[in-house]
Amino acid sequence: MISTPKSTLFPTLTLLLSLPILCFYIAPRILPPRQITITLPDELDDLSLFHKAIAMDSSNFSHRHHHRLPSAKSHLSTAIRRPKIAFLFLTNSQLHFSPLWELFFSNVSHKQYNIYIHADPFVKIPPFQGIFKSRVIPSKRTQRSSPTLISAARRLLATAMLDDPSNAYFALISQHCIPLHSFSYFYNFLFDLGRLSVTDFEFSSYIEILDNEPTLWDRYNARGENVMLPEVGFEEFRVGSQFFVLTRKHALKVIKDRKLWRKFKLPCLNLDSCYPEEHYFPTLLSMQDPNKCTQFTLTNVNWTGSVNGHPHTYHPSELSPQLIYNLRESNSSYSHMFARKFSPDCLNPLMEIAESVIFKD
Ligand SMILES: *[C@@H]1O[C@H](CO)[C@@H](O)[C@H](O)[C@H]1NC(C)=O
Ligand SMILES: *[C@@H]1O[C@H](CO)[C@@H](O)[C@H](O)[C@H]1NC(C)=O
Ligand SMILES: *[C@@H]1O[C@H](CO)[C@@H](O)[C@H](O)[C@H]1NC(C)=O
Ligand SMILES: *[C@@H]1O[C@H](CO)[C@@H](O)[C@H](O)[C@H]1NC(C)=O
Repeated sequence: MISTPKSTLFPTLTLLLSLPILCFYIAPRILPPRQITITLPDELDDLSLFHKAIAMDSSNFSHRHHHRLPSAKSHLSTAIRRPKIAFLFLTNSQLHFSPLWELFFSNVSHKQYNIYIHADPFVKIPPFQGIFKSRVIPSKRTQRSSPTLISAARRLLATAMLDDPSNAYFALISQHCIPLHSFSYFYNFLFDLGRLSVTDFEFSSYIEILDNEPTLWDRYNARGENVMLPEVGFEEFRVGSQFFVLTRKHALKVIKDRKLWRKFKLPCLNLDSCYPEEHYFPTLLSMQDPNKCTQFTLTNVNWTGSVNGHPHTYHPSELSPQLIYNLRESNSSYSHMFARKFSPDCLNPLMEIAESVIFKD
């Protein structure tokens, strides 16, 4: 099951290993940041995890419970026995809003959710407390503008699939994300049987999938011109928010993929156009199962006035009940469930409006 990385040897090893690394890195620090590459041992580690998760899913759980459901809705409640949401926290810092999340989960039965954390082991983070205690999965180094963020998300998906066959939805969350509704609102929304399509009784993933962004051509060629061919033609290349809520069926597709990963794991030549995690998931799912993706993210991000690829970060002076109501609004028929990014000092003002605004539906 889940365990924090054991590390009696780790500090000494890190020290020994870091000497050459330090020398190596001090000079390039002044130049543009080096992109870390994924080593063969790390790749093999991941593959073995994915194989285990795939094997369990097909032997045990299969598509019986959540995917190919019986042909009448009346059978659904017995077919989907107590489905859970897996909350996948992807972070390289402490979880700034953990007290808010504690409150989010406070009245909720453990039978309805699980928590998993991928925390960059190269960053010193104080041990997670409360409901986050011991929820860190074996994690590896992550870096912006590199495929390591894809790996981390796939590691979270596979670990959660393996850990509990009842995990039916997988929600990727960052340390800068906050909830915009109560847990039960979100849970009831996801498992609302009215949302199932009448023909195949299958739930959909909430992942943004866009094909009309002006930067798409540069991002497609970030690893070199035509490098993505033949696996991914430009007309198949998509972009979308990295923060998704996937069904188990789609989580399985993601960890099964080898073909697209071979291309997306290549280092970028052009770091300004390098956001692999914003392309891999939307491209893969739009190629494999577009009709079961809403093409819409449940996480509100404010790209107005974005700087350097970073979205607008909310600060305490901007917080108000009205902001929460505005962030919930969307162009889709349903509300946003989460929002990012918030600066860590938003915690107290958010806690003040938690019960009266955020968790009041
Ligand atoms: C099937 O699921 C059960 C219950 O979660 C688990 O204990 C068991 O190991 C799984 N079987 C396989 C073959 O992985
Ligand atoms: C938890 O339950 C208490 C008592 O029923 C209620 O007052 C409170 O608003 C609930 N908190 C959340 C976050 O739902
Ligand atoms: C989005 O960010 C801009 C500043 O970059 C701000 O003016 C605007 O109010 C924000 N939108 C919302 C809905 O908060
Ligand atoms: C709805 O879509 C329009 C046009 O794309 C956009 O300008 C607007 O900000 C969107 N509104 C919300 C609430 O997302």
